[in-house]
Amino acid sequence: MPGQIEPALLSELRGRLRDARRVFVLTGAGVSAESGVPTFRGGGNTAVWKGIPFDVISSAGMLARDLPAVWEWFDYRRKLLCELQPNPAHRTLALWQDKFAHFRLTTQNIDGLHAAAGSRDVLELHGNIWNARCTNCAERRSLKDESDEGEPEERPPICRSCGHAMRPDVVLFGELLPEGVFEQAATDAASCDLCFVVGTSSLVYPAMRLPEIASGTGAYTIEINPELTPFSGRCDVAIQGRAGEVLPQLEF
Ligand code: OAD
Repeated sequence: MPGQIEPALLSELRGRLRDARRVFVLTGAGVSAESGVPTFRGGGNTAVWKGIPFDVISSAGMLARDLPAVWEWFDYRRKLLCELQPNPAHRTLALWQDKFAHFRLTTQNIDGLHAAAGSRDVLELHGNIWNARCTNCAERRSLKDESDEGEPEERPPICRSCGHAMRPDVVLFGELLPEGVFEQAATDAASCDLCFVVGTSSLVYPAMRLPEIASGTGAYTIEINPELTPFSGRCDVAIQGRAGEVLPQLEF
């Protein structure tokens, strides 16, 4: 059956999970695919919105040229997300957080579904779609609160501190990651015993470096993805299957 872990491997992985003290998990869009969130790549397709490739509409250049278009794209994505729920992969990872001396969940996703499943202290490498950030000062605002308060939506939202336009609090192509976030993830990756790489094409820098860091410092690395990626040949085990089907089998 696709996604069914072969018994010898299953018992090996359960043993490793029972013995592990420090676990590091990197997730990507594929972990949310079974919740209904479209991935960017995979299955031979690349995301396009209104004829614009996602890496153009989600870019620093587009933000500079057309902030309202960037808001429209992220508002569209937020609207899709409103209806969606965490899936068994998110829920399994939320259960793992209390089972190890140290557990770090790092995600490239901006959808907030790990937190919705109960995961705490998730390192969000690419920000969070539910937050806005001022283009001028450090002010941030939750867009969830905005809709809860029933305030009229202004686009772009205006910063209450300094009056400048706000932008989605996400990392766009051509931008750096939020300060310190990658460094924290790299520290955790470098000191883990077990590293899971779930639902990422392992193509986007710098997140793709994290499993390499874990592997380079001796961690046992496990990839979960229905498709092969550039990391598949370098990890200890590549399980070809869907995250929501594979992760719950790893009960230990
Ligand atoms: P991608 O869309 O590049 O890759 C998604 C991966 O998930 C593919 O390798 C799929 O095979 C896999 N996949 C699909 N369904 C799955 C399932 N049910 N279970 C497990 N895996 C599944 O997404 P990311 O690697 O997350 O950045 O992309 C990285 C970054 O590229 C994103 O964070 C985003 C994008 O540009 C920014 O927007 C800054």
